[in-house]
Amino acid sequence: MISKGKRKAEIAEACGAVVGLRDISFQVREGEILVLMGLSGSGKSTLLRCMNRLVEPTCGRIVVDGVDVTKLGRKELLAFRQKMFGMVFQHFALLPNRTILANVGFGLEIKNVPVAERTEAAMQAIELVGLKGWESKYPHELSGGMQQRAGLARALAADAEILLMDEAFSALDPLIRRDMQAELRELQKKLRKTIVFVSHDLDEAIALGGRIVLMKDGEVVQVGLPEEIVARPATDYVERFVEHIDLVAVLRAEQVADRSAVVLAPMQTVAEARAATASRGGDAWPVTDREGKCIGRVRAASLAAASPHETVAGLLDRDPCVIEGSARLDGLLGRVASEAAVAVVDPDGRLIGSLTSRDVVQALAARLGAGGHVQADPSPALRAVRS
Ligand SMILES: Nc1ncnc2c1ncn2[C@@H]1O[C@H](COP(=O)(O)OP(=O)(O)OP(=O)(O)O)[C@@H](O)[C@H]1O
Ligand SMILES: [Mg+2]
Repeated sequence: MISKGKRKAEIAEACGAVVGLRDISFQVREGEILVLMGLSGSGKSTLLRCMNRLVEPTCGRIVVDGVDVTKLGRKELLAFRQKMFGMVFQHFALLPNRTILANVGFGLEIKNVPVAERTEAAMQAIELVGLKGWESKYPHELSGGMQQRAGLARALAADAEILLMDEAFSALDPLIRRDMQAELRELQKKLRKTIVFVSHDLDEAIALGGRIVLMKDGEVVQVGLPEEIVARPATDYVERFVEHIDLVAVLRAEQVADRSAVVLAPMQTVAEARAATASRGGDAWPVTDREGKCIGRVRAASLAAASPHETVAGLLDRDPCVIEGSARLDGLLGRVASEAAVAVVDPDGRLIGSLTSRDVVQALAARLGAGGHVQADPSPALRAVRS
């Protein structure tokens, strides 16, 4: 029925069977945090568990570092799992008759790591997740959130190359949860682990900072960075899914910058610069050299006060008021608010465009337009975000 194109709901109705996953194909890059996201029942846990064959896929291939996991025999699979995969389970899966220390060191124990080394690694992981002092307690003596952290410590201690994390932070308080998200990002940067993280929380997916695989009814509907998904939702469903996304946390300076803003050159005369800026308004304009690199800016006040034959170079304010195009808006609102215009540059220092608080407000207001409240005609900022 799947191969005849029948959908999950039709198949369930016709024969009572649940389609776990269908027609899924994507890549996980080494060293990235990839988030599997979707509503409850969309197949996230099933997909994650297929990766290390805790769930046996009926067909298809799963290739890890050149090894087709689906072809491994029972023994090879166990060894491969131990070496490659650390897993944090949705429901913790701690062993009730073992202390936290023994639980956290469990992965190393089955790898026959000597006890001293194992204890040291386990204690480090316990400390990392903030459970120091609880190592000799049993799981039932810990709260749900603490058990979840113990599960996380166990995966970290095992030092596997790939971490599969199923709703690993769902039982944590919002504050600790945010800390753990930041901690995981740091850890990933430091240790270069590859992490596949299941979450149904869009804010969490954004906070983790990587690509998102968006699932619905056992299928993948879109793969991309949050800002790509917001800018170009693949279906109506995705559009509705990201409707309440915190745009400030997602959009990058380069998406919002005004690429048609006036740019001045150092050898222009004041008269030329006045002519170029007269019809456009603004409080400051970026100045670029011949290669397009931003070398400073000229403020409206100094342009107004200068004599017409002076050059722009003489008025140049070399204050490096530039931001990288890849910076997210939430980190630069303060600067945009206090500066007339901020130059947005690429990694080589070349000007992409200029950014004013007006551009930011327009990009955010575009959301209202998307919701059907305000505008009929998209603003330049919205067109920029969408294009
Ligand atoms: N062991 C199982 N046997 C039969 N059906 C299952 C089994 N596990 C999951 N399913 C079904 O597969 C589908 C996907 O379940 P899955 O647990 O992967 O969802 P999920 O996206 O992880 O949801 P949640 O966010 O609630 O954890 C559901 O329709 C579920 O009923
Ligand atoms: Mg699940």
